[in-house]
Amino acid sequence: MTKKLLNDLSSENSLLNDLSRENSLQLDSILSSGIPWLKLDLEIPKFPIEVLNDAVESSVGWHGQWDSHYAQPDPSSQTNSWDGKVLFGPKNWNEWTPKILSDRIEDEPGLAKKYRRDLDFAWHIDVDHPVRKWVNSFLDDDAINLVSYYVLGPQGYIQPHYDDTTGNRWLNKMYAAVAWPDGCEFGFLDWGNAPIQEGDVFLINNYQHPHWVINRGTQPRIVMDINCDLTKIQDLIKRSFLRR
Ligand SMILES: [Fe+2]
Repeated sequence: MTKKLLNDLSSENSLLNDLSRENSLQLDSILSSGIPWLKLDLEIPKFPIEVLNDAVESSVGWHGQWDSHYAQPDPSSQTNSWDGKVLFGPKNWNEWTPKILSDRIEDEPGLAKKYRRDLDFAWHIDVDHPVRKWVNSFLDDDAINLVSYYVLGPQGYIQPHYDDTTGNRWLNKMYAAVAWPDGCEFGFLDWGNAPIQEGDVFLINNYQHPHWVINRGTQPRIVMDINCDLTKIQDLIKRSFLRR
């Protein structure tokens, strides 16, 4: 019986043989699968709070300026006690503003990706800053489009929404929970809460699924959002998918 099966496979099942030999896990299969999150096989070092605070203070609060240029900025009631700052992004706001005004795209990662090669992009922390060194341990600067800090204070929240994009509504941003106190939750409609713990890095799909964030704790929640060329970390993503 075994011999017959082997004979069949070698002689009459060329399609099956081809599939068996050539089938492999594709990055886009994972990214487009529709799952709202994937925990990455990557751990954030335990940074002292002074290091985190230094990075937050060094980052640039361009989001406020950015939003103020749009005709209909987000209603203030959408967030409470939330602040977003750019840690790696366009270097010069005066150079950047005309670009985004001509585009009218409310998709910051998309804009950063679009103009990444035309404008100067830079870190807003020193080359030897522990946070920057950690990101560069798995991503070269060339592969990074935008890194932002999102700080959500105690009793802060972000109302249910999903984010705009000019790209695919797939898994996209790396969501690094550098400070995730008890009482924080990140909910995805009909999927429950993402099982995020401090020190985790997730890949999330904030484009397809309505989501919200609440901090019922007493300490600020700090997340680093890394938008990058995901093909540069595809081995990590595939390994994480296979181990999930
Ligand atoms: Fe969002």
